[in-house]
Amino acid sequence: MASPGGQVAFSCTYCHGRYGDNQSDYYPKLAGLPAKYIKDQLLAYREGRRDSLSMQSMALALSLAEIDQVSDFFASREQSLENVFLADEAQISKGKKKALTCVACHGPEERVDPNTPPLARQGYDYLVAQLVAYREGTRLDTNGVMPALVAGLSDADIEAIAHYYAAQ
Ligand code: HEC
Ligand code: HEC
Repeated sequence: MASPGGQVAFSCTYCHGRYGDNQSDYYPKLAGLPAKYIKDQLLAYREGRRDSLSMQSMALALSLAEIDQVSDFFASREQSLENVFLADEAQISKGKKKALTCVACHGPEERVDPNTPPLARQGYDYLVAQLVAYREGTRLDTNGVMPALVAGLSDADIEAIAHYYAAQ
């Protein structure tokens, strides 16, 4: 029988994939994200601290218990290593250099704080949109770290970094 979190997760399938492991560039992968991080984001959508029409209505439809259950469910799934992203080698090597300040927190190897989201194989368009959102101030970060880190990045830097992470 499906776990309670697995049942709640059915309603996320269309956009995120049954196990949070879609191959979309646009919809983020949820499989293997830290449970605490997923929960924080669902609360942020609910409270309007993070802007997304589709996610705000999804998050408002969940009870707090369901938020806990679905966060644990996706956190417990492993991301597959399959990757259909069409990578550009020159962009990846540029992005790798630009991401030197990011890897301690986001991987692709070990992360200092396990509650920080890993970025490896996350969707390209999604990554670009989030970095621009932190830079423009439309995504707030309660930890306060991201806006300062992306303030100096150009659009070209952001695209290279997104290439690097999407291609992992
Ligand atoms: C109609 C499509 C749709 C459905 C259904 C949907 N989502 Fe989303 N989800 C999105 C989009 C689009 C984003 C990116 C929004 C943004 O830019 O902040 C997102 C982002 C997220 C994030 C943030 C991921 C990150 O890395 O920060 C979480 C967590 C999430 N969704 C959880 C869920 C859960 C749990 C469900 C089911 C209860 C669900 N979503 C259902 C479209 C959807
Ligand atoms: C000191 C640790 C730290 C460093 C260094 C750091 N980040 Fe972050 N990053 C975080 C935290 C914490 C979050 C979650 C913030 C939130 O809740 O919005 C985050 C969120 C993100 C997200 C959103 C992930 C998602 O799933 O939606 C992206 C993309 C990102 N960071 C990219 C970068 C890039 C690119 C760099 C380097 C230029 C970088 N980060 C450096 C800690 C860090």
